[in-house]
Amino acid sequence: MKVHIFDTKEKLYDEVSNYYIERLNKNPNLNLGLATGTTPIPLYDRLIEAYKKGLVSFKGVKAFNLDEYLGLEKNHHQSYYYFMRNQLFNHIDINQNNCFIPSGDNPDHETAKKEYQELLKQNQVDIQLLGIGSNGHIGFNEPNTPFDTKTHVVKLDEKTRIDNSRLFNSLDEVPTHAITMGISEIMNAKEIIVIATGSNKKDAVYEMIKGNISENVPATVLQRHPNVTVYIDKDAASKL
Ligand code: GLP
Repeated sequence: MKVHIFDTKEKLYDEVSNYYIERLNKNPNLNLGLATGTTPIPLYDRLIEAYKKGLVSFKGVKAFNLDEYLGLEKNHHQSYYYFMRNQLFNHIDINQNNCFIPSGDNPDHETAKKEYQELLKQNQVDIQLLGIGSNGHIGFNEPNTPFDTKTHVVKLDEKTRIDNSRLFNSLDEVPTHAITMGISEIMNAKEIIVIATGSNKKDAVYEMIKGNISENVPATVLQRHPNVTVYIDKDAASKL
């Protein structure tokens, strides 16, 4: 695991976005595993800016998102479908038919799971982007998720719902369940990039990098992956 610590978030996001641009220019047909949450937004902003300047194209890219809330309609302002279109896809030249997100509005969860598992079996992700939950979750794989899981439906931890309630009008509105790429599918990516900023992530970051590998803290599984780079600011790194 390579760990890069930055004095400022600006430097961190400049570095990560430059890396994506470089990789996309070398291989315009990358399969990108993408994430939601507030953490990736400054990266997506920089990628949009680079696209507008003609420095990068996403025409050949396929995008595979990590997760989605269950029960929100696609156009709900907090659905990850809506988030991805607003924060990235609508502003770049990606083919929207090549943008995949587990389907949270399909009441047939079994089919939704199988479809996404099949999709990931047929398309290996080249670079998987991850944020990290303050409880160490990756995607929506909450503590004690077995490491061998494929795409599955999860009951969200109360901590996760409380963390994410800042984006909803109230805690009651935060869905109780989600559908997420499984840990084994995340680990199947050729390369993984983790971004974490802010002191509320310092415990999770510490465990991910220095903790014992344990299903209690899903992000610790990343220690077993051969190609992980962690980009953190000094606040997120403050316990290391
Ligand atoms: C969310 C997402 C994760 C994300 C994490 C951190 O609930 N499911 O994919 O990495 O929690 O979110 P944030 O970046 O807003 O701190």
